[in-house]
Amino acid sequence: MKIKAFAPGKVILFGEHSVVHKKPAIAVAINRGVEVEVTSRDDDIVRIDVPLVNYSESSELTDKKLFFELDSQNKMITDYIYEVINLFEFDNGFNLTVDIKMYLGAGLGSSAAVTVSCIKALSLLAGIKLNKDQIARQARDIEIKIQGAASPIDTSMSTYGGIIYIDEKSQLNRIDFDMDLPLIVSNCEISGNTGKLVESVRQKYVKYPEIVGNIFNAMQLIARNAKEALETGNSELIGELMNLNQGLLDSIGVNTVELSDMVYLSRKYGAKGSKLTGSGGGGCIIAYCPENIDYIYDHLSQKYATFKCEQSDEGVNATIIEK
Ligand code: PMV
Repeated sequence: MKIKAFAPGKVILFGEHSVVHKKPAIAVAINRGVEVEVTSRDDDIVRIDVPLVNYSESSELTDKKLFFELDSQNKMITDYIYEVINLFEFDNGFNLTVDIKMYLGAGLGSSAAVTVSCIKALSLLAGIKLNKDQIARQARDIEIKIQGAASPIDTSMSTYGGIIYIDEKSQLNRIDFDMDLPLIVSNCEISGNTGKLVESVRQKYVKYPEIVGNIFNAMQLIARNAKEALETGNSELIGELMNLNQGLLDSIGVNTVELSDMVYLSRKYGAKGSKLTGSGGGGCIIAYCPENIDYIYDHLSQKYATFKCEQSDEGVNATIIEK
């Protein structure tokens, strides 16, 4: 049996940081993510390859299960894969290749995409049919087990795809939109520490409650307006709102020189809007490029790790290549 599965990554289009303070945010699943191929074997060997991190290991099934103990100190992307394998029983060994076609640890939801794509492929191999709600729940449980805490955003985006509006009550609502979102993602390859950045914003809020409170209020208005702009296909407004959001993220101290450089380069070459995405302090920017995307990509990719993508409406999916 041979199965291929794909799960998308995500970007936060609007509302990072303010979402921690009960303001809305918008997240978009992108058509870059994780591709998994699993092929059953005639023996009990489980071979795992993760080319992006040069990982290649073989182990053996015992009573249809693979023994794995989580190392709480050194969290690795392969932990997510082993935790997924642990969910199921297998009659035979298999070869599993996990091809991560995006950046790791850069706020794009790579661990969720790895987890979700592996659940999809390996559940099919184990002969179990899971619906999307079950996949999302199991993926979130694994993220919580490994990370200690996890918002449902990344695993939801990887599972269901589309665009999600996280409202003031932290509920996830799908946005019905009727437009393309051609995006460029550029990575400065410096990691920001999400926990520390969230804490630094909290401290600023404590020090300047009225000022920072009003910055959060402005971010809230941006996200609300952006939801409407997506629903009505107002691309001009989306770009402007991204630029406004970027200025506000800068004001609360999560922007960096490298992120600014990427933001301004993309705008210089024609992006309609651009901003950091995720926690900041490093990581990635997104540039909204309804026109001249190749031209903008050519310039950014000369200096930074860069890819083009669009929204992914479908979410996790799999194909059985051989029965
Ligand atoms: O970098 P990411 O994709 O994990 O996003 C972090 C977003 C924050 O708003 C900064 C934190 C959060 O938990 O929402």
